[in-house]
Amino acid sequence: MRGISKAFFGLALVCAIVGMAWGIQMSASGDHLLSPAHAHLNLIGYVGFAIFGIYYHLVPSAAEKMIAKIHLAIAVVGVVLMVPGIVMAIRETSETLAKLGSIAAIASMLLFAWIFITSSRET
Ligand code: HEM
Repeated sequence: MRGISKAFFGLALVCAIVGMAWGIQMSASGDHLLSPAHAHLNLIGYVGFAIFGIYYHLVPSAAEKMIAKIHLAIAVVGVVLMVPGIVMAIRETSETLAKLGSIAAIASMLLFAWIFITSSRET
């Protein structure tokens, strides 16, 4: 694994480790208030990024495209905004970060769909 696939997979592992540690902290404290944020870190950050990483490993021609780098950047922005955004929304501080994060998250998935469709045509 190298390049984009390695970056996605490495970030997936970071999200998994932080997300699981957060889960253990929730269990130990008995305070599950922030479980939706934990769930999104694990599912979008860990599971989503791992799938992206494996895809780019299997389809190296897609990984070499400039659009794949843009996909990585938007996907990272999505998780970085969405997870604290959900925490803020639950705490009723603000919903802005969660909204921006969700827009980045769907933009990243739409971009991935585009990369998938155009790369499938080439092979
Ligand atoms: C060390 C590993 C983990 C621990 C200790 C842990 C712990 C927890 C706890 C305590 C809750 C709250 C349960 C409740 O209030 O009903 C929760 C919810 C959840 N977790 Fe985890 N978790 C772990 C890993 C994961 C992973 C790897 C994923 C996904 C890939 C995940 C996805 C979820 C989901 C979807 C919820 C439900 C959130 C909700 O109802 O709002 N968790 N977890």
